[in-house]
Amino acid sequence: MPDLYEVLPTIIGHRGAAGSAPENTIAGITTAAELGVGWVEFDVKLTRDGHAVLLHDDRLERTTNGRGPVAALDFAELRGLDAGSWFSPAFAGERVPTLSEAITALADNDMGANVEIKPSPGRDRATGYAVARALRRHWPDHLPLPLLSSFSESSLVAARDAAPALPRALLVGRRPGNWVSRLERLGCAALHVAQRHVGVRLVRTTIDAGYALRCYTVNDRARAERLLRWGVESVFTDHPERMRR
Ligand code: G3P
Ligand code: MG
Repeated sequence: MPDLYEVLPTIIGHRGAAGSAPENTIAGITTAAELGVGWVEFDVKLTRDGHAVLLHDDRLERTTNGRGPVAALDFAELRGLDAGSWFSPAFAGERVPTLSEAITALADNDMGANVEIKPSPGRDRATGYAVARALRRHWPDHLPLPLLSSFSESSLVAARDAAPALPRALLVGRRPGNWVSRLERLGCAALHVAQRHVGVRLVRTTIDAGYALRCYTVNDRARAERLLRWGVESVFTDHPERMRR
């Protein structure tokens, strides 16, 4: 049984509020707050010179006007990029935020966060360690503890080494056969599963084993209602506005 457990809200903004603002930006966090979301998820990786920044892809092309791998760029170069125009001209000039700027935006809006450790290839341990250490040192006292998650088990082990008291969750597409032993080994209190692979039996067996189950990415309201009725604790959504009562 996990010993770290915190109940999260049912609706968590995915990459901020990715349906309404450019993903993994400060505008995304503040938009989620405006939509009434209490928690957001975002992805963090390292620049070449070790700065923790909010980006999902290993490469820059999809969500910025830059080119090439994130891990090949120093922070000063990354900072010159536009991370908003690709989404809409209304967000032109939005920058790739640092983890520390994201923490400030969360503090200003009284929001919690699931920080997904998204290492560039070969940087699993370094990313997990750096992200968890930054959260341990700079997380505001007045916010609920951040939840760390990752598809990378090496990142989760490094995060545990850096900040053992921060709760962790293992991200998977499908739930693997040996999921309990993996969660136990990693000291994770929850499993985050792709929603298309989730049925009522999977929900029941996960909860019965003492773990929380959260599902990504749920953009359909009826599907969210069904998952939550089955016992899923939270759904990650690009469209919090669709989930309002
Ligand atoms: O953390 C939930 C979800 O964000 C995982 O997938 O690819 O959207 O980061 P991805
Ligand atoms: Mg993510």
